[in-house]
Amino acid sequence: MATQREAEIRKDVQTYYGQVLRKSADLQTNACVTAAGPIPRHIREALQNVHEEVSLRYYGCGLVIPECLENCWILDLGSGSGRDCYALSQLVGEKGHVTGIDMTEGQVEVAKKYMDYHMEKYGFRAPNVTFIYGYIEKLGEAGIKNESYDIVISNCVINLVPDKQRVLQEVYRVLKHGGELYFSDVYASLELPEEIRTHKILWGECLGGALYWKDLAILAQNVGFCPPRLVTASLITIQNKELESVIGDCRFVSATFRLFKLPMTGPTEKCQVTYNGGITGHEKELIFDANFTFKKGETVEVDEETAAILKNSRFAQDFLIRPIGEKLPTRGGCTALQAKDIITDPFQLAEESDHMKSRCPPDAAGGCCDTKKCCKNYN
Ligand SMILES: C[S@@+](CC[C@H](N)C(=O)[O-])C[C@H]1O[C@@H](n2cnc3c(N)ncnc32)[C@H](O)[C@@H]1O
Repeated sequence: MATQREAEIRKDVQTYYGQVLRKSADLQTNACVTAAGPIPRHIREALQNVHEEVSLRYYGCGLVIPECLENCWILDLGSGSGRDCYALSQLVGEKGHVTGIDMTEGQVEVAKKYMDYHMEKYGFRAPNVTFIYGYIEKLGEAGIKNESYDIVISNCVINLVPDKQRVLQEVYRVLKHGGELYFSDVYASLELPEEIRTHKILWGECLGGALYWKDLAILAQNVGFCPPRLVTASLITIQNKELESVIGDCRFVSATFRLFKLPMTGPTEKCQVTYNGGITGHEKELIFDANFTFKKGETVEVDEETAAILKNSRFAQDFLIRPIGEKLPTRGGCTALQAKDIITDPFQLAEESDHMKSRCPPDAAGGCCDTKKCCKNYN
């Protein structure tokens, strides 16, 4: 049973997103609409096809469109007016499916209103999107079955739920083995004090309920996920004097992480992996996370965990994967990243990205380094 505080928070959030806000511009801080950085062309085009009213009510804080989506079944937690669902609907294709779940009626109504518009625009004979009214910490009550989705996404929502471990447990339950939670959310630089956590506007603006970033790894481990893989991060500049004075020294970042659910297999080993360039929109290289970029045809040594993820997920079909012992003909190969070089702190990544951006010429074609830390140009 939800505690009284949880029930109050839900009501406040429903009022905020159903009645107080009408469009992104009504937000009082820029936490929910922090820019995600450069967007690959095929995703930009998919987003441009989304109806204006749906896009106007977008309150996400990152880009939650991963790679390798054809025919996938995707669940969007806190789908709001449906912008990400409709963009993903094109990318999974008619044989894939996208389900959006949200607890705010007004948001679900807007999402449903444009179903025919989008299906017609994409030329689909039958809709491949469903919107459900329900709670993301109670996916079972909403009829969502065990191991039924390839990917779960979420854009700026988990911060709004007090019981984050319960949300992750539900995600773990509904994901197929090898599936992933690919999500953008707001994180704090410290454990938030009571004053911030109980501030209604800060909660509604996705700041008051933000997780201390180090706690994500603990929650993921408790639930059974692999350690979080950091994809992108950008610092949030609040830009509201009154709220800044309540926040004090705490800093916030918007970050995208991927959490994989791997089958319980035996011991894993380091591997050499070679990407075949087969993923739509990522033919030259696959930027897997902030630490790993796989260039087509290049053999790279990866640690045990990365090897296990590639072997057991939907990415397996696009990689040649061999144990380290077997010598492969290499073309420009390189050795595994040292543990000390792997970035897991979103604040560090966001600061490095800002620093690199300020050093890169604005028209640096192809980017000046090979990770998302930099000003990579997607064209
Ligand atoms: C910041 S908005 C983001 C909406 C959407 N993801 C987007 O990018 O536009 C947060 C959304 O999460 C929904 N939400 C918050 N807590 C929820 C919960 N416990 N269950 C279902 N939806 C929830 C709200 O109704 C709201 O639509």
